[in-house]
Amino acid sequence: SDPGLVERARAAKAALGDRVFVLGHHYQRDEVIEFADVTGDSFKLARDAAARPDAPYIVFCGVHFMAESADILTSDEQSVILPDLAAGCSMADMAAIAQVEDCWEQLEAAGVAGSTIPVTYMNSSAAIKAFTGRHGGTICTSSNARTALDWAFEQVGGVGLDGTGTGKVLFLPDQHLGRNTAVRELGLSLDDCVVWDPHRPNGGLTPEQLQAARMILWRGHCSVHGRFSVDAVETARREIPGVKVIVHPECRHEVVELADEVGSTEKIIQTIAAAPAGTSWVVGTELNLVQRLARQFPEQRIAFLEKNVCYCSTMNRIDLPHLVWALESLVEGRVVNPIRVDPTVAAEARSALDRMLALPG
Ligand code: 13P
Ligand code: SF4
Repeated sequence: SDPGLVERARAAKAALGDRVFVLGHHYQRDEVIEFADVTGDSFKLARDAAARPDAPYIVFCGVHFMAESADILTSDEQSVILPDLAAGCSMADMAAIAQVEDCWEQLEAAGVAGSTIPVTYMNSSAAIKAFTGRHGGTICTSSNARTALDWAFEQVGGVGLDGTGTGKVLFLPDQHLGRNTAVRELGLSLDDCVVWDPHRPNGGLTPEQLQAARMILWRGHCSVHGRFSVDAVETARREIPGVKVIVHPECRHEVVELADEVGSTEKIIQTIAAAPAGTSWVVGTELNLVQRLARQFPEQRIAFLEKNVCYCSTMNRIDLPHLVWALESLVEGRVVNPIRVDPTVAAEARSALDRMLALPG
């Protein structure tokens, strides 16, 4: 990266000292990660956001929903800054609050809302987190989805794999994380899962399908992880003897079924770090992280799962020029790109986020 910009970022951070706290998601560019005080997956960053209550400025190098969550979880005196406001998430955009409210009304009309609890992936707007809090549900991330689902099913009478369970989870907005966790970790079947399509009347489901379902999965997906294919896993297994395939649970169910290991970004890093030297890996997650892992662990052979999948374009919006601009503006006393969640929405969303933070483990 541009040495002039590196120097400016260093100088601005030094001038701000303890007044600024920079968080970086594992999918961020190297040039940005270099200036992060903490790095992590979505869960770790949500927990760590409140770790520096003394810092008036939190610069969030990640995407919009993460910065919103950080604003909700930190004090009113702290400002959360997203260096580029165009850093959104296409998955989070697949569930609009009006669509979710409409879905809930239809679950009420079908007589199933009373036995349904929402579990919402972190990758969602604050308004949908607030909806989740209003209806007694919890937020989850890819590192605690199983615990969150266990908790949620307990609230509605248990998973009941012997056929005794009747309660349901409305899982928003990533159908793949919901399906993968329910089937692989809770023991539910694919037939227990139905997909609610917000663009079709009644979600495209009959009243009978809704009655029988245990997991109502929102029709959302990650535009990056959704592209990893069965073909790429099979090719890797053919071409690289002894290869271990590790993927993120936002990948499609067929892909996850073929993998050796599945986990959040933090778990992917820990698994690779703990493996013996000389292990061959193909990794199905965002490219910035895979490239960094390959550099950090040269004693392992680390390759990207699918050649024609690219970076997450919105994560990549945060680059060194935007970070320098945000930091230098703070030095000049200007807070650019603050993320402020409406206080009523924030209070309801906070109850769902606090529920997640209180989950065991
Ligand atoms: P984690 O950080 O929870 O692994 O999530 C990955 C992701 O897609 C974030 O946008
Ligand atoms: Fe959203 Fe997927 Fe990008 Fe994560 S990797 S920010 S889920 S589009």
